[in-house]
Amino acid sequence: MGGVLIIGAGGVGSVVAHKCAQLYDRFGGITLASRRVQRCEKVAGEIRQRTGRSIGVAQVDANNVKEVRSLIRKVEAEIVINVALPYQDLSIMEACLEAGADYLDTANYEEPEVAHFEYSKQWDYSERFKEHDLMAVLGCGFDPGVSNIFCAYAQKHLLDEIEYVDILDCNAGSHGYQFATNFNTEINIREVTQKVRHWSEGRWIETPAIIDSGSVHFPFEYPEVGKRESYLLYHEELESLAKNITGLRRIRFWMTFSQEYLEHLRVLRDVGMTRIDEVEYEGKKVVPLKFLKALLPDPASIGSGYTGKTVIGNVMRGTKDGKERAVYMYNVCDHAESFSEVGSQAVSYTTGVPAMIGALLVKERKWKGTGVFNTEQLDPDPFMDELGKNGLPWKAVDFGGELPE
Ligand SMILES: NC(=O)c1ccc[n+]([C@@H]2O[C@H](COP(=O)([O-])OP(=O)(O)OC[C@H]3O[C@@H](n4cnc5c(N)ncnc54)[C@H](OP(=O)(O)O)[C@@H]3O)[C@@H](O)[C@H]2O)c1
Repeated sequence: MGGVLIIGAGGVGSVVAHKCAQLYDRFGGITLASRRVQRCEKVAGEIRQRTGRSIGVAQVDANNVKEVRSLIRKVEAEIVINVALPYQDLSIMEACLEAGADYLDTANYEEPEVAHFEYSKQWDYSERFKEHDLMAVLGCGFDPGVSNIFCAYAQKHLLDEIEYVDILDCNAGSHGYQFATNFNTEINIREVTQKVRHWSEGRWIETPAIIDSGSVHFPFEYPEVGKRESYLLYHEELESLAKNITGLRRIRFWMTFSQEYLEHLRVLRDVGMTRIDEVEYEGKKVVPLKFLKALLPDPASIGSGYTGKTVIGNVMRGTKDGKERAVYMYNVCDHAESFSEVGSQAVSYTTGVPAMIGALLVKERKWKGTGVFNTEQLDPDPFMDELGKNGLPWKAVDFGGELPE
């Protein structure tokens, strides 16, 4: 039995490694590799302390196809979980093809020079994965990931046709810093400073960025944490779900932000600190956003003392047996509980657990297929069975709340 290779030893990678180690016997060998091997050694030490299990560690530059290919072969990995950065998606997919391993990630490919993400370049790999009899699963974190699988589950069990989807992502936690991001600062800020889009009646509608005047927001009543202002945001699962849900009329994504966060972000943007092009400073080339990342707290380190909860879920409206029906599927995750279990806050936890489960299902052939898949294209049932058992209990309830028209 081949093992699993996890690439990226950041906030999410640490959770994936911990969760794989908790199911050690089902995974076979586990190796954690990253640009800096010291990060992997630190995580491996924590895992040894918490679970008594040993995992392998390795240094790798995931931009280098040859290095990744040799590592896959050396550790005899059957599947690679890519939780490095979206910049490395294509090189790791390429290496999987060459070495004969399945592939799974949590974020779609981005070019470093352009703050834009879309699936086309990864979908283009489908034929080659088919030819090699291999499977690639894209976007298997919480959102994208569970948010897509909630749609597949609702489609299979709760609604005959889904017409409207609203994905609502709330972090009602407090980390105690004036300003910090909950996952990779560079990727996070590129995402939230973009112009917003949602999909309605077959076309994309553009609205202002969350920090610009005219941004669209409303207070949503979240279970357990109450009302929170939620902002319309473009998120990558909208692209695949708009394509894969038959009969869909509109899909939107909402995320909560505090006024304090938005104010900091607005100032940083206005003074040029979120720029992704190189600027010359004292004879050196500097990318302001990369420099900002170096100044802000490392998302992998903000878990200690983090309080509060995340509530992420989908409201899906459509018809069942000829009648209108609205259902809300969601998970509530507690930052402090995540930290006490695996040493990471709930944003990393809610991303890492689904990635581990997705890889397990591919490995155990409960998710089967050749080519490239988004998670809504796979059977939701074995995934939903594992989700609660592995730390992310979920609920499906009838929805009677308010959403903007
Ligand atoms: N779908 C979801 O729900 C969801 C939610 C949150 C995040 N994400 C995604 O999860 C991924 C990881 O996020 P994170 O917060 O864990 O980020 P992070 O803490 O910055 O960790 C990323 C890790 O990738 C490693 N890395 C970067 N470039 C590399 C390279 N060329 N070769 C090898 N390793 C490299 C870094 O290595 P070193 O530290 O060793 O230098 C770092 O440890 C991101 O792609 C993010 O977009 C998805």
